[in-house]
This record gives sequence, structure tokens and C-alpha cells, in this order.
Amino acid sequence: MTAHRIDGQLRVTGHAEVLKVVEDPATYSSKVSRFLQVPNNLDGADHERFREILDPYFSEHRMAELEPQVRSVARRLVGELPRGESIDAVRGLGISFSVDAMLAWLGWSQDFEGELIDWVIDNARATRSGELDRTREVAERFDAIIRRVAAPRLDRLDEAPRDVTDELLRETVDGRALTHEEIVSILRNWTGGDLTSLALCVGVVVHQIATDPAIEADVRDRVGDPARLDAAIDELLRIDDPFVSNRRRATRDATVGGCPVRAGEKLTVEWTDANRDPAVFGDPDRYAPERNAAANLVYGAGPHVCPGRPLATLELRVLLEELLAGTTDLAPSEEPGVRAERPLGGWLSAPFVAI
Ligand code: HEM
Repeated sequence: MTAHRIDGQLRVTGHAEVLKVVEDPATYSSKVSRFLQVPNNLDGADHERFREILDPYFSEHRMAELEPQVRSVARRLVGELPRGESIDAVRGLGISFSVDAMLAWLGWSQDFEGELIDWVIDNARATRSGELDRTREVAERFDAIIRRVAAPRLDRLDEAPRDVTDELLRETVDGRALTHEEIVSILRNWTGGDLTSLALCVGVVVHQIATDPAIEADVRDRVGDPARLDAAIDELLRIDDPFVSNRRRATRDATVGGCPVRAGEKLTVEWTDANRDPAVFGDPDRYAPERNAAANLVYGAGPHVCPGRPLATLELRVLLEELLAGTTDLAPSEEPGVRAERPLGGWLSAPFVAI
């Protein structure tokens, strides 16, 4: 089954069908909410305009400049990990790493660390609860943080930018400055969701390495060759993709995976399922980085393909390099892990032992 309805909601799960949807934005719009979300909820020329401004923030050059800062965060956190004891790869490593790496990237004060770590945990809980009041409360809390970050910077717009956030505040679109709402939305999309995704990615990658000696041997063999190590990480994320789904809205009547879709109807593209489609990957659990790279959909496809991929890839690779360099073995823990539940994926807690 490549598309099906659950509680009336159409979920597109087949690899070919997911591609069909995300590569046809005229039929499947990303405008799924009435709230402004830049660039996620924009279509067509509006979307392109913002991607042109925002994609350069993730250029190869910028990522190379950022690498030493990300490495120093990773080295510090790995150095602090206890040896021979159970560690939760998500809460004991992934969350603090994703928050600290983000503070370094955006140039935010370390003072935000505790508040952001609490926020990531509360956000995951609220998302899991599905309760509107709770999700609204965490969303508002995040906007308040962003407003606090932006306020002092808006007072010195005539000075040269000191960091990425300053640069963003000076961007223009169609010859006008970005509005406050647009800036808040961009920063929210750069940070809010992705802090959680990155922490979950750390859990998925570390769990598979710690529980499968053959994978650990292969990954260790790739250290020193960034492109091969990146391919291994992408493959581990494909096998257990923690970024589960995104929404689209049909602009006209259509059919996907044999299911009729009505104009105006909302549907989801299921990345986790598409990344395990046997028609494309055979045995979905078979770890084959090079074979599966071209079809991997962890970072999406089509015009909304993840712009943050170079940053996520850099962060995950550097963390893994430091973790492998600082240990002789990543071993399974006796403590059981806890799986995350939809709309999140991967592990909520992924215990392992660093030796
Ligand atoms: C941690 C691992 C990450 C995963 C697995 C991931 C995955 C994805 C996927 C699947 C999409 C496609 C959404 C769609 O088609 O509707 C996407 C879009 C997006 N991602 Fe990521 N992402 C990650 C990290 C990041 C990071 C670090 C950033 C920025 C700092 C980022 C920023 C965005 C933005 C702004 C979009 C929307 C793009 C658009 O609508 O044009 N992501 N991401």
C-alpha cells in the first residue's frame, strides 16, 4: 500500500508516490496553515525569493568556517561523558549538542542554553501529547525567546553585523527589509523544529552504532573521509528516519497511490515510510550507504528540500568523529530505550555505553 487513510487523513507512504507529491507543488501546495512560516508554508515565486536569500547561509564556505566551533562544542560534550556507564544519546548528548551548536552558529549568548534545553524537552512532550494548549504554550515560549534575542540587535542595525543573526536582520526581499514576523518565522524554522530533529538524529545514529558491531566497524573505518562518513550517517537516518512527515494541501482533484484526493484536502508525505519502501531499498534494514544514497529522502525532495542539510550533516559528522575518537567502543546499554511516537520518530531515549 503506497497511500492510505487513517481517521480520514491521507498518508502517502510509497517512495515513488511521496516524490510525485513533493515534486508537484502546483497540485500539492505547502500552504497548509494560516500562520506565516518562512519558507516552509510558501509556494511558487514567494517561496523561491526566500530560498534565494536563505540558502546561502548554508554554503560550503560558511559550513567550513563554522566547523571549528562545532568541533569544540562536540569535543567538550564528549569529554564530559561518563565512561562505562549508561548514557542517553538523546538527553545526555543530542539535546545539549544541538542547542550548543546552534548557539555557536547563530551567535547567541550561552545564557540561553538552559532555557533552550528545557524548551526542546517540553516541545517534544507537547508534540507527543497532541494537546493544542500545550503546543501553543511551547510555541509562544519559543517566540518570546526569539524576540528577546532580536530586541538588542534591532537597536544596532546601523552597525556592521557581528554574527549570522545580525546578518539575517539586515536582509532585504524585493528591495524592502524583512518584517519582524518574517524574521521570527525564519529563526523559528531554523531552530525550533531542528533542535529536536537533530537531537533525535543523534539518538538514531548512536543507537545503531552501539547495537551493531558490524556497523560500528564500518563507521569507524570511514572516519577521516568526510564524504564516506556522511554517507554512513545518511544511511543510518534512512533506516530509522526520525523526521517522520510533512503536510501538503491538494489544489485540485488528483489521485495518488490509487487514492483519490479532493481539491482542498490535506495529506501527509511520510518520509520514514518512504525511506523504508522495499520496492526501492529491498530489505529496508540492510545497511548499504553507497547503494541507497541516491534514493534517500531523509532531507526531503522537490522545491522544499531541506536547506539546512549541510549544517545538520556537518554537526552530525563532527559529533560522531569526536565520539569515535574519544572512545574505543560504543556498546549497548542494559537499560531499554524508549521509542518516540508520532509525530516524532526514532528514540526518545537511546541508552548506550561509551568505553
Ligand atoms: C536534523 C536533521 C534534519 C532533517 C532530518 C531535516 C529534514 C527536512 C525535510 C524532510 C524537509 C522537507 C520539508 C517539506 O518538504 O515540507 C526540511 C525542510 C526544511 N528544513 Fe530541515 N531537516 C534537518 C535539519 C535542518 C536544519 C539544521 C535546518 C536549519 C538550521 C533546517 C531547516 C529547514 C527548513 C527551513 C525547511 C523548509 C524548507 C522549505 O520549505 O523550503 N533543517 N527539512
